[in-house]
Amino acid sequence: MTRLKIGQAGLGYWGKNLARNFDELADLRWLCDASDEARMEFAGRYPKARTTGDFAEMLADPEVEAVVIATPVPTHYALAKQALEAGKHVFVEKPPAMRAEEMEELVALAEDRSLVLMPGHLLLYHPGIAKLKQLIDGGELGEVLCVYGNRQNLGVIRKNENALWSLGVHDLSVILYLLDEDPEVATAQGRDFLTPGVEDVVFCYLRFPSGKIAHMHLSWLDPHKMRRMTVVGREKMVVFDDMELERKVTVYEKSPWKRAETYGEWMTRSGDIYIPKIPTDEPLRLECAHFLELVGGGHDKSKVAKDGARVVRALEMLTNSLNGHG
Ligand SMILES: NC(=O)c1ccc[n+]([C@@H]2O[C@H](COP(=O)([O-])OP(=O)(O)OC[C@H]3O[C@@H](n4cnc5c(N)ncnc54)[C@H](O)[C@@H]3O)[C@@H](O)[C@H]2O)c1
Repeated sequence: MTRLKIGQAGLGYWGKNLARNFDELADLRWLCDASDEARMEFAGRYPKARTTGDFAEMLADPEVEAVVIATPVPTHYALAKQALEAGKHVFVEKPPAMRAEEMEELVALAEDRSLVLMPGHLLLYHPGIAKLKQLIDGGELGEVLCVYGNRQNLGVIRKNENALWSLGVHDLSVILYLLDEDPEVATAQGRDFLTPGVEDVVFCYLRFPSGKIAHMHLSWLDPHKMRRMTVVGREKMVVFDDMELERKVTVYEKSPWKRAETYGEWMTRSGDIYIPKIPTDEPLRLECAHFLELVGGGHDKSKVAKDGARVVRALEMLTNSLNGHG
C-alpha cells in the first residue's frame, strides 16, 4: 500500500509528537519551520525528509498530498487556507481559525475541493471520551441534563493565550461532540490576575436548544490538578477523569425518582458504581490514523471540519462574552 506523502509545518513542542506519529504511519517528506534550530534538530531525526523555512516551497512540491500544521494558533487560518488552495489535505492543530467567519471559509474551501480539513481535537480520540459518547448515544444515562468540565492546575502560566483559549478548547470540543448541538447561549466570566488582558481563571456557561446546560471551569491558579468531565443523566451519571490511571471512567447508578406513594415528591436512588474497561490506545495515534483514513476515503470527510467549525463558533461567542461584548 502506498503511504500518504506528508509535509509538516511547525516543529515545536507539539510538532515533535505529530512528526513521530506521521513518520511511522505515513511518508513524512517535508519538515517546515521558521526556526533554523528546529529545522536542524528535525533534519537529524528524519534524514529522508527535506527541510525548509518557506511554507510555499513545501506546497509547491506536487508529490505532497497532505499538510500537517502545528504552528502557533494565530497562524493556522492563513497556512491552512494556503494549503487547501494548493490542493492539499490539511490536518491543523486546534483551533484552525480564531474567528467563526474564517473557519467557515476554510470549511467551504475544503468542501469545494473535496479535501479533508481536520482540526486536531485530541481529546475526541481518547478512548475514555469515546466511552462517554457510547453511554450517552446508547441511552444508558437516560436523558442528559448537564455536562461540566474541570481543567484546573497551578501553572503553566501563559502570557499570550488566556485560560479559555489554552485550556478551554479541549473541553469545549468534548462537550459539543457529546451533545452534538450548537449552544444558543454561551457566556464567560474571568479575571486577568497576573498578566493584563490574559485571563488566568475563566468560568463558562452554555445552554443548548434541547434545554441541556454545560459549564467549564478553566484555571491555572488552582490547588487541584483536574482533567475531568462529568455527565449527569436522568438515569445514571458518569465521570471521565484523565488524572486517574485505571479508573478513567466511572458510572454512578444515581438518579432522582418519584415514588407513587409519596405523592410526586422527588427522592434519590443510589445503586452500583462501576468502572468500565477503557482501552489504553494512545489518543494521538488514533487521531493521526483517523486523518489518514479520512484522506483514504474511509469515512464522511466533511464531519470533522463541520464539528471543528462548531467549536470555533462557540469559542467566538465565549470570547465576546468574556470581553464584555456578549
Ligand atoms: N492537541 C494538543 O494536546 C496540543 C498540545 C500542545 C499544543 N497544541 C497545539 O500545537 C500548536 C503548536 O504548539 P506548540 O506548543 O508546539 O508551539 P511551539 O511554539 O513549541 O512550536 C511552534 C513552532 O512553529 C514554528 N512556526 C511559527 N510560525 C511558523 C510559520 N509561519 N511557518 C513555519 N513554522 C512556524 C515556530 O518556529 C515553532 O517551532 C498550537 O496550535 C497548539 O495549540 C496542541
